[in-house]
Amino acid sequence: MLDLTKLIRPNILSLVPYKCARDDFKEGILLDANENTHGSALEEISQKERSLDLNRYPDPHQVLLKQQIVDFRNEKPNKNIENFDENKLKVENLCLGVGSDESIDALFRCTCTPGKDKLLICAPTYGMYSICARVNDVEVVEVPLTLPDFQLDVDAIKQKIQSEENIKLIYLTSPGNPTGKLLNTSDIVELLTLIEIISWNGLLIVDEAYIDFTEGPDDTHSESMSMLVNQFPNLVVLQTLSKSFGLAGIRLGITYSSTGVSKYLNSLKYPYNISSLAGDIAVRATSPAGIKTMKSLVSKIISERENMVKRLSEIEGVGRNIGGVDSNFLLVEILDKEGNPSNEVALEVYNKMARSNNVVVRFRGREPNCTGSLRISIGNKEENEILLTKLESCLKEIRSS
Ligand SMILES: Cc1ncc(COP(=O)(O)O)c(C=O)c1O
Repeated sequence: MLDLTKLIRPNILSLVPYKCARDDFKEGILLDANENTHGSALEEISQKERSLDLNRYPDPHQVLLKQQIVDFRNEKPNKNIENFDENKLKVENLCLGVGSDESIDALFRCTCTPGKDKLLICAPTYGMYSICARVNDVEVVEVPLTLPDFQLDVDAIKQKIQSEENIKLIYLTSPGNPTGKLLNTSDIVELLTLIEIISWNGLLIVDEAYIDFTEGPDDTHSESMSMLVNQFPNLVVLQTLSKSFGLAGIRLGITYSSTGVSKYLNSLKYPYNISSLAGDIAVRATSPAGIKTMKSLVSKIISERENMVKRLSEIEGVGRNIGGVDSNFLLVEILDKEGNPSNEVALEVYNKMARSNNVVVRFRGREPNCTGSLRISIGNKEENEILLTKLESCLKEIRSS
């Protein structure tokens, strides 16, 4: 059984959340928050902006937005959920952040004592976990993903959390970045089950930034583990509106956790972290009409992804797609003249593409087991055609010199 008194840092356990008068009174002449009631310093203001009362502080709780997200995720449960009516997601399971980058950091601040607690990651993975660990003075322990399929080394993780003291957080990325591979749900469930048996008092966090680009096991089930947080108290799931919803600019991340953990995350967050503008756009994007639009964007990306897998493989000098096809990007090897993945050639291609061809991709060759690789986001049809042409010509030039 997860012991919150040992999981949450003592200073957060005893934290009394910031309270404003508006938690109690929302109507009337509002002279409680030192706002500028004369208006905003905007020369021109649209009807929409006016309706958002931008001179007022935003809603700290965002209940409508959370409810819409919960309804959407509950629609297609994960196959591993037991007792759906009891365990399905509730508004209280959610905490919203300024992008999932803020949510990632909040979990460190909530649970890790600087200079003592540790983070476990499975490389190659998203860089912000280690950056946040460093900022919070948390040591990073690594258990690499297995090769060649970039999956979890379940036995090695089990061994590590039992032998190494003070591991408080495990950050997994599914689908992975830069791997683009969905992790086997059965492996994560196996870990969660073991964690309960050995009473490991930490959080296993699954970052699902790219989950909507994965096709579920069937029409009625989803790969997302978000609705399992009430079943597995050690599980936390992160999502974002930056990818499938196409709203990286508004900065909105979602943390799903047990109501016990969620209460502390919500006490710790800055009360007004979601701006009125971001909140309004997020409510529109997660409404039934918004979800329909998101799904249609995702299906276009998936169809372009299929095309890109094929077309990239036809270019001389492009090797294997070493990642998966579960995200909105691919991870492909760039080969030298001998046909071996090469960081030197990949870097040359990367620079030539950006400097002389106006196409920017990401060099990932220094990530563990990603030698010679470029991570290429799936663009629209026109962008992808340009990328393919430029990549082919760059490779021809480099390989003939
Ligand atoms: C795995 C993963 N998690 C989180 C993020 C950050 O998302 P956000 O824009 O919500 O901060 C990214 C961004 O690329 C990512 O790849």
